[in-house]
Amino acid sequence: MNLQGLKILVTGGSRGIGAGVVQQLAQSGATVAFTYSSNKESAEKILETLNGDHSIVQMNMEDEKSIETGVAQVLEKFGTLDGLVNNAGITNDQLILRMGVDDFDRVYQVNLRGAFYCTKLCLRPMLKARKGSLIHISSVVGHTGNPGQANYTAMKAGLEGFSRSIALELSSRNIRSNCVAPGFIESDMTHALTDDQKKLLLERIPLGRIGTAQDVANCVEFLLSDKSNYITGQTLHVNGGMYLN
Ligand SMILES: NC(=O)c1ccc[n+]([C@@H]2O[C@H](COP(=O)([O-])OP(=O)(O)OC[C@H]3O[C@@H](n4cnc5c(N)ncnc54)[C@H](OP(=O)(O)O)[C@@H]3O)[C@@H](O)[C@H]2O)c1
Repeated sequence: MNLQGLKILVTGGSRGIGAGVVQQLAQSGATVAFTYSSNKESAEKILETLNGDHSIVQMNMEDEKSIETGVAQVLEKFGTLDGLVNNAGITNDQLILRMGVDDFDRVYQVNLRGAFYCTKLCLRPMLKARKGSLIHISSVVGHTGNPGQANYTAMKAGLEGFSRSIALELSSRNIRSNCVAPGFIESDMTHALTDDQKKLLLERIPLGRIGTAQDVANCVEFLLSDKSNYITGQTLHVNGGMYLN
């Protein structure tokens, strides 16, 4: 797919799915700015693998000031913005009876509040240009629920409602908003699962394999490209068939 000339911001591009997205977009000709929160070294390693004028930016999604500073740096460099990929996310799993308010709040701040605020700050150049594509990485468990993830699943379901609402608000300005909902994808987030948990999950995937960052990146690339010009307010599921809706 050709993304030549597009300027894209990807949050949480230092590892996992975000890093795969960054590499795919850069390969397709986009200029990418991507964020890390604490893992600067890992972000720099990803940057070294890319050809072109790409950049890394520190951004903590829990902190409004940090999001403001990060987005301002990107806009200053790019002068415009064609796309935002809200990918940064965390888990903080506990059964509801053991889940503290802080456990809930932290996931809320990074996964939903941070995505809201980053989107809001990125809209100005898109409104001016009367075009843009917003992509939010949600999750299959935002649809199915998952024991131990009441906080995470609530935020992912919330992100999808958020995406649909702004799709309606922004479509008159030719700005599209869509979600990509991965299933079980190989990354640091899923490395935390035990072998038994992984085996059980694998049994539920009809295509018989764990997904890769590349599988997700391909969908993000499509939603940023002209090929998806008539798609907004949707969720694209990337889960090997483990959830059919
Ligand atoms: N892996 C899966 O199976 C799966 C499935 C469904 C959905 N997802 C979603 O896909 C997205 C990426 O997941 P992943 O598996 O690639 O995760 P990951 O490997 O743990 O990477 C998380 C990324 O988010 C960044 N991040 C963490 N805390 C942050 C904060 N407070 N502020 C800003 N950035 C922060 C990290 O930056 P540092 O490197 O600096 O820490 C890193 O770049 C998440 O939204 C996740 O919920 C993943």
